[in-house]
Amino acid sequence: MVSRTRSQRKLNAFTTLFFAATAMATAIRAPVSSGAKYPRMTSKSTEMDSAPYRDASLSVDERVEDLVQRMTIEEKAGQLFHAIIRQGPNGTLATTTGPAVSGKFMTHFNLGGPISDVRESVQWYNSLQQMALDTRLGIPITISSDPRHAFAEAAGSQIAATKFTQWPETLGLAALRDAELIHTFAEIARQEYTAVGIRAALHPQIDVATEPRWARIGGTMGENATLTAELAVAYIKGFTGPDGFGTKSVTTVSKHFPGSGPVEDGEDSHFVYGKNATYPGNNFEHHLIPFKAAIAAGTRQIMPYYSRPMGTKYEEVAAGMNKGIVTDLLRGKLGFDGIVCSDWGLVTDAVIAGQDMPARAWGAESLTELERAEKILNAGTDQLGGEDRTDLILELVEKGMVSEDRINTSVRRLMREKFLLGLFDNPFVDADAAVATVGKKEWLRIGYETQRKSFTLLTNKHNMLPLKASKCSKSKFYVEGIDAAALEERKLHVVDTPEEADYAFLRLAAPYEPRPGGFERNYHSGSLEYNATEKARQAAIYAAVPTIVDIYLDRPAAVPEIAHNAKALMVNFGASADAFLDVVFGVEGSGPEGKLPFDLPRSDEAVAVNKEDVPFDTLDPLFRFGHGMTYGRGHGRGDGRGRDHSGHD
Ligand SMILES: *[C@@H]1O[C@H](CO)[C@@H](O)[C@H](O)[C@H]1NC(C)=O
Ligand SMILES: *[C@@H]1O[C@H](CO)[C@@H](O)[C@H](O)[C@H]1NC(C)=O
Ligand SMILES: *[C@@H]1O[C@H](CO)[C@@H](O)[C@H](O)[C@H]1NC(C)=O
Ligand SMILES: *[C@@H]1O[C@H](CO)[C@@H](O)[C@H](O)[C@H]1NC(C)=O
Ligand SMILES: *[C@@H]1O[C@H](CO)[C@@H](O)[C@H](O)[C@H]1NC(C)=O
Repeated sequence: MVSRTRSQRKLNAFTTLFFAATAMATAIRAPVSSGAKYPRMTSKSTEMDSAPYRDASLSVDERVEDLVQRMTIEEKAGQLFHAIIRQGPNGTLATTTGPAVSGKFMTHFNLGGPISDVRESVQWYNSLQQMALDTRLGIPITISSDPRHAFAEAAGSQIAATKFTQWPETLGLAALRDAELIHTFAEIARQEYTAVGIRAALHPQIDVATEPRWARIGGTMGENATLTAELAVAYIKGFTGPDGFGTKSVTTVSKHFPGSGPVEDGEDSHFVYGKNATYPGNNFEHHLIPFKAAIAAGTRQIMPYYSRPMGTKYEEVAAGMNKGIVTDLLRGKLGFDGIVCSDWGLVTDAVIAGQDMPARAWGAESLTELERAEKILNAGTDQLGGEDRTDLILELVEKGMVSEDRINTSVRRLMREKFLLGLFDNPFVDADAAVATVGKKEWLRIGYETQRKSFTLLTNKHNMLPLKASKCSKSKFYVEGIDAAALEERKLHVVDTPEEADYAFLRLAAPYEPRPGGFERNYHSGSLEYNATEKARQAAIYAAVPTIVDIYLDRPAAVPEIAHNAKALMVNFGASADAFLDVVFGVEGSGPEGKLPFDLPRSDEAVAVNKEDVPFDTLDPLFRFGHGMTYGRGHGRGDGRGRDHSGHD
């Protein structure tokens, strides 16, 4: 591990030298191409303009040292926070931005909300960088983001693609088991991110989904740790880019260390009732497999989760404030030398989406805010996510509870990252280039084709699928979960009731128990079965008309009744109505190519006796990991793999 770190440092030094020259060229060009709106690449203070840290010809180490010794404790404190930022109207800065940037010297933010107008977002971003440049030291901003290239919209973890290319969730990419495709996805996402100034990905999420009820499985790569590890490597390399880590890269934050799959009873640890991670199968080490691969692949940052590990050798407190987890295990045993950023909100109680959300200081609830901040820093965590309590850092240092030397260590890591990303040398982006890059036609096409391929076909009675469009010109369709207009555009006739129809298409959300609260309701939890009312409602449809069911799986579902009663059952992991219809009718030779990225349990009863930390232990699964039929020979592209009936109910 030590030698890897050394060679990585050498590589960093090399890329820095290499990019120093190109960065200067870009710095001269950028203001011109952005309409001379941002004429100054310099900070307000002329004294700082000639400081060594501004000199791109020096090494990153030299620049970091020069900068850190110039920073006041207030300026250092600001670096230790990473909080949500929102755009103001029409590309302006929100009123809360000034106090954070100029008042608290914060320079790390995750962008909340959609990007609905690329040009406006660029204007917002450049104004933000100008505001940062106008502070005493002119430290540039690093913007990060939760995933925003798929369909899910869940405050606090995922944002639906708007202008960006749209892909299935990572589960859908995992269903295709194609590292090269994941690499392509990450390359495209990297270019779209950097075009608008997003330089840090709060992903990949490489938790192993061993507990099927967990609300955050949709953002994982499924239940298989080995597969997750393989795909994580391709993912991280794509976000890093072909030239190694540097001015064209997005820094990746792999999460949630040490693997947040084993949540007790499947409850998410954003919430009080889900604070425990549990290891009844004694399988803690298994969850480290993807993290080891991510570290070897060069993930720059790691995020520990909220959960507290129960019954292991580690202290039973949230991972982000857990010295055994962060310092002994992650930095010591696994040799990770990068940035550790805690998950959002370990210190301060907050109201999120109208809901009271206590700080996720699990196991340390009785500590004061000051003591929690101390515990986080002394655990070895560099940055406090979702917080802006610079006051606590100042108090900790003033009282001698945390040394300035300790603060220095984290500030150095954080500043090094900004230098390597090239942000000091050119923080601005170009609006025309961004508009030309984001949502590029050929990339949208690849995303769309991936949506189609990632459908996973579980049953197909009498080879009902694909339907022949030519034989359906007189047919009548009953549809749910899909806009009638999408069929009518294809000259298909839509009717109002199953009884009138020749075929029914049901596109269903996976079962879950609705939870109250503006924030909590986005986290689909509890039972994996449809309730009795819904089962009866569906049964009437299956009895009335041959039905094709497509379930959007944001986590596994227990649906033996559908496997039994529908003519065909497929699942998707984020795919549009058009992608669905293309696959149903085999348009352009398209057909399902996905393989289940997890076992589908048979019932809630089966799930209740699963061990949270153990993969593939559900009793008599309805379908196994890897099950997925294709249309087989003779259809369209014909991949020659034939049909796969294994695990068929
Ligand atoms: C934003 O722009 C729209 C249309 O250009 C305008 O109607 C609106 O008043 C603007 N809002 C603000 C806050 O400037
Ligand atoms: C998990 O994935 C790996 C790599 O793709 C594969 O070799 C292994 O068989 C899979 N495990 C199971 C239980 O399917
Ligand atoms: C977590 O584990 C502790 C210790 O076993 C237990 O007392 C508690 O009920 C568990 N669940 C929650 C939500 O705290
Ligand atoms: C913090 O780091 C800077 C730069 O290396 C150094 O000048 C300063 O003495 C350090 N402060 C402490 C308390 O270690
Ligand atoms: C049953 O499920 C349906 C849809 O999934 C939902 O609309 C309904 O409110 C649920 N009913 C009960 C009693 O939980």
